[in-house]
Amino acid sequence: MMLSRANRLLAPSARSNVPPFIVMDVMAEAARIEAAGGHVIHMEVGQPAAPAPRTALDAATAALASGRLQYTEALGIPSLRARIARHYAETYRLQIDASRIVVTIGSSGGFILAFLALFEPGDRVALANPGYPPYRHILTALGCEPVLIDTAAESRHALTPEALIAVHRAKPLQGVVVASPANPTGTMMTAEALKVLIEAAGGEGIRVISDEIYHGLDYAFPAETAARLSDGVTVINSFSKYFCMTGWRIGWMVMPVPLVRSVERLQQNLAISVPTLAQIAAEAAFDGHEEMQAIKHGYEENRRILIEGLPRAGLEKFLPVDGAFYLYADVSRFSGDSAVFARRMLEEAHVAATPGIDFDPVHGKDFVRFCYAGSVAEMHEAVERIGRWLNSDG
Ligand SMILES: Cc1ncc(COP(=O)(O)O)c(C=O)c1O
Repeated sequence: MMLSRANRLLAPSARSNVPPFIVMDVMAEAARIEAAGGHVIHMEVGQPAAPAPRTALDAATAALASGRLQYTEALGIPSLRARIARHYAETYRLQIDASRIVVTIGSSGGFILAFLALFEPGDRVALANPGYPPYRHILTALGCEPVLIDTAAESRHALTPEALIAVHRAKPLQGVVVASPANPTGTMMTAEALKVLIEAAGGEGIRVISDEIYHGLDYAFPAETAARLSDGVTVINSFSKYFCMTGWRIGWMVMPVPLVRSVERLQQNLAISVPTLAQIAAEAAFDGHEEMQAIKHGYEENRRILIEGLPRAGLEKFLPVDGAFYLYADVSRFSGDSAVFARRMLEEAHVAATPGIDFDPVHGKDFVRFCYAGSVAEMHEAVERIGRWLNSDG
């Protein structure tokens, strides 16, 4: 009796009931194999193998030596915000006022702030399927309704204005999240595709959030920033991927002017400010451009090895490998369940990849995502192992 009352008191809220990240199970299994002496090639987790740029590490070391790290302004250290604004001028030839830049706790922190500032509970927000799972899980936790829209090869697996408007006509949408390059597909939207989507959404009063976390890692063609196409789009970015700073937990947003003050108030209350050490390191990271370009060239080589090697190994069907560091392969020829395929590949070939079901509840059972942010030697070895495994599999 006592227990059931206690259990009731401690029952988690319905909105906290978000699904786990299946990739975590793959990581746990890989760790078990490694503990038993196996050597696993890790292609499951979407993070760079390289450390933050030397310039960032040096700036952080100096800041630590100075002793005191205090709160900063909620929107971020002014010199970092100015440096991010300069990044838009240098990279995209685009003038963005530093007052629109908001420093965040990774792009993950940016999503929470942006969704809170843009949407009411119950609002419907469109997402491309397949897509990055936390978009839908954060929206759910905030009481919004994620609306998955299937994408197709003809649009390079991006949302199209036609699909967006058709869903909106059936039941109104208040928002849409776009990502280019995208996770898990690694596909990109052309500048024109992004433009027509933003225009279509704008015409219907649908608010656009553009996740640009993989900018800088574009191979097929240059990634366009949504900030150029409209002042009303919320752009989200991060130091995690191009700058190899996943664990530093730092990102940024370019906000529409009318929303900046709301976001500032939210951040003041939710986080006070972003970790100061990470902000100092991030500002210096922009000076490590050459080092990061060398790492990007490594990814390009990895991409080439997989595009050429995987078909020889037996995996000849995958989506266009445009950007980020992902290759999304169709494994339906080998298995009706990509989670089983991924588990067996891990156990028998010691290559870890993520089953598509993490990213796509509908068609994910046909796909596996490979992350190619590791070393060139590992890519060669992975292709070898997969080839041997698939060919011995009967
Ligand atoms: C598409 C996409 N957006 C956002 C994130 C979150 O990254 P962070 O919070 O480290 O900036 C990730 C991480 O993998 C991602 O793949």
